[in-house]
Amino acid sequence: MEVIVARDYDEMSKIAADMVKKEIIKKPDIVLGLATGSTPKGMYRELIRYYDEGKLDFSSVITFNLDEYIGLDKEHPSSYHYFMNEVFFNHINIKLENTYVPDGKAKNLDEYCKRYDELIEKKGGIDLQILGVGENGHIGFNEPDERLNMGTSVVELTRSTIEVNSRFFKSIEEVPKTAITMGINSIMRAKKIILMANGKRKAPVIKEMINGTKLTTQLPVSLLMLHHDFTVIVDEAAYNG
Ligand code: F6R
Repeated sequence: MEVIVARDYDEMSKIAADMVKKEIIKKPDIVLGLATGSTPKGMYRELIRYYDEGKLDFSSVITFNLDEYIGLDKEHPSSYHYFMNEVFFNHINIKLENTYVPDGKAKNLDEYCKRYDELIEKKGGIDLQILGVGENGHIGFNEPDERLNMGTSVVELTRSTIEVNSRFFKSIEEVPKTAITMGINSIMRAKKIILMANGKRKAPVIKEMINGTKLTTQLPVSLLMLHHDFTVIVDEAAYNG
């Protein structure tokens, strides 16, 4: 694991975007694993800027998103699919047919999840996975638990995640209670992983991940310590608290 401590959110975003840029230039048909939420927004903004300046071409890039709420379609303003289009895909020259976000309205969910992992493999596997982390240590929507799913699965969201994410909905009652998420193995199979975290609310989980001496499914992010090419980019607030 490599830890990079940035001054602030903007520097964290720029460092992450520069790493993504380097990988896209190295492999124009790269398969990216992407996250939503507040953390990666600045990185997407920087990548859009590189595109606008003619420094990046997304025409051959393929993306797979980590997760989606069950019951929300891609037109729902709180869905992750909508978020990705608004925040990133609509501003670059990526082909929308090369962008995969789990379908929150899929009929046969178990079958659908299995096919999502198969599709990732069919496209050659994820070259670079971008992650944020929940205040409770979740990655994707893999919530702290006694056992975690290996592959893409349907999961129940914890009360704390529902509360934290209610800021993206009109009311807490509107937040779906279940989601589809890539599993731990779907994430760990990525050839390279970058995790970003900013703000002092993330400091306890970052501290426990970096300094902890035990891996535990009760802190899903700790499992990333087993990955052979894992970079953590944090701002000073997330590093020092
Ligand atoms: C989102 C995702 C989540 C977030 C995490 C942090 O696709 O997978 O694990 O990365 O909840 O969210 P923010 O960045 O909003 O603090």
